Amino acid sequence: MNMITIILWALANQVTSQTNVTDISSANILAQQKTISENSDLYLTCSTFGKKKQIQVTVYLCKGDLWIDKKLQKQDRYETTFTIQRVGLHHSGNYSCVYSTRGDLPTKVTKKREPIEIVVISNFLPADISVAAPSDVHEGDDVAFRCIVSGPLQTLGECQLIHSYLMRNQTILQVQAFNVPGMEANFTIEGAVVRDSGHYSCVVLPSKCIQEGEKTLYGNNRVLVEVKESLIFRLIASFRVIALMILLGLGLCLWWINKQGIRT
Ligand SMILES: *[C@@H]1O[C@H](CO)[C@@H](O)[C@H](O)[C@H]1NC(C)=O
Ligand SMILES: *[C@@H]1O[C@H](CO)[C@@H](O)[C@H](O)[C@H]1NC(C)=O
Ligand SMILES: *[C@@H]1O[C@H](CO)[C@@H](O)[C@H](O)[C@H]1NC(C)=O
Ligand SMILES: *[C@@H]1O[C@H](CO)[C@@H](O)[C@H](O)[C@H]1NC(C)=O
Repeated sequence: MNMITIILWALANQVTSQTNVTDISSANILAQQKTISENSDLYLTCSTFGKKKQIQVTVYLCKGDLWIDKKLQKQDRYETTFTIQRVGLHHSGNYSCVYSTRGDLPTKVTKKREPIEIVVISNFLPADISVAAPSDVHEGDDVAFRCIVSGPLQTLGECQLIHSYLMRNQTILQVQAFNVPGMEANFTIEGAVVRDSGHYSCVVLPSKCIQEGEKTLYGNNRVLVEVKESLIFRLIASFRVIALMILLGLGLCLWWINKQGIRT
């Protein structure tokens, strides 16, 4: 008889304590990495370990002061993982977790909690490009380009050396290391020819410490380079061809004479 009352009392107590956990509690948040490259998947884990009792709760993932996702957590579980697929730059922000026995919390969460800041690193960033020298490009000239990033540049894992592309008319021409502390890279087109004319742009790849598959991109800041045809260059080029033909002809003659000599 005594035993039954104790059990009943315990049950009743559990019910009241359950209904009274309706207010929100903060949970811990864990992330594998706090900087993540654009288009990859972000995994965030909310942990109620050491915080909740053996009860089923709803875990809410919050960004800023709003919750953006929720999941049921069974009474024997203490970790709930949320996945945000193919993150964009707008996914950067402060994330946190709360839990409640209620599954219908208002979207604005006022409970004080410890957030973590997630930074999404862009894959391509247009850089400022200028023609370092010469300003008036003629055929045969070496054209030097200077790419500069103004403003803060966040890279994956605080990488110091990333890649940058020199592009013409939206195709990649050259790949170069971009020194993040120095914030600049130089490119050179050696011996420009007329078909090097076009719109040049420069991009940096803050999320890539190593080179990956090539990709075309629309650069923002462009500089127009017009290579002027030079008569002397043309003449030299044609002289070279003529000289080569004479040499070839001579070689053929010699070979033929030699062959005749062997035959007789
Ligand atoms: C549980 O919460 C209710 C109001 O929601 C309150 O009246 C009651 O006293 C609380 N019980 C305990 C044990 O805190
Ligand atoms: C995240 O929080 C930090 C400080 O807690 C603050 O400096 C930063 O601006 C916040 N980021 C966003 C995107 O709100
Ligand atoms: C790029 O060229 C400029 C001069 O045009 C020079 O001052 C600078 O040091 C060069 N930067 C690198 C990274 O080579
Ligand atoms: C690039 O575009 C310009 C004009 O838009 C054009 O004159 C030039 O021929 C193009 N160059 C290449 C290599 O496609």
